[in-house]
Amino acid sequence: MSPRLVPAGSDPVRRTERPVAVTVDGEAVTGIAGQTIAGLLLASGRRAWRTGPSGARRGVFCGIGVCFDCLVSVNGEQDVRACRRRAADGDAVSTQNRRPPEADGIRQGPEEAS
Ligand code: FES
Repeated sequence: MSPRLVPAGSDPVRRTERPVAVTVDGEAVTGIAGQTIAGLLLASGRRAWRTGPSGARRGVFCGIGVCFDCLVSVNGEQDVRACRRRAADGDAVSTQNRRPPEADGIRQGPEEAS
């Protein structure tokens, strides 16, 4: 997957350039109809949008729906694979963080630790 955008006039599939407007963590981002959410995120300059349990930044790895590295929330639905979901006008995309709270210095209470 690449953030490179082929101009519509030279696109072999003759797509039309219909804009799509979404928000990413509340920030307005525009793309083109047919782009996946991952494609839209990459085209907007984002390379990573999730933090794994180790603290490592994650974005697109496989690009084909196998690795689950690209997870985001879309319209409140969690764990959506950004590489498999086409962006729709008005989508509210939120980044996710799987880093455990203790990694950020937040201790769990006794009822949460069991
Ligand atoms: S990049 Fe691997 S599932 Fe999306």
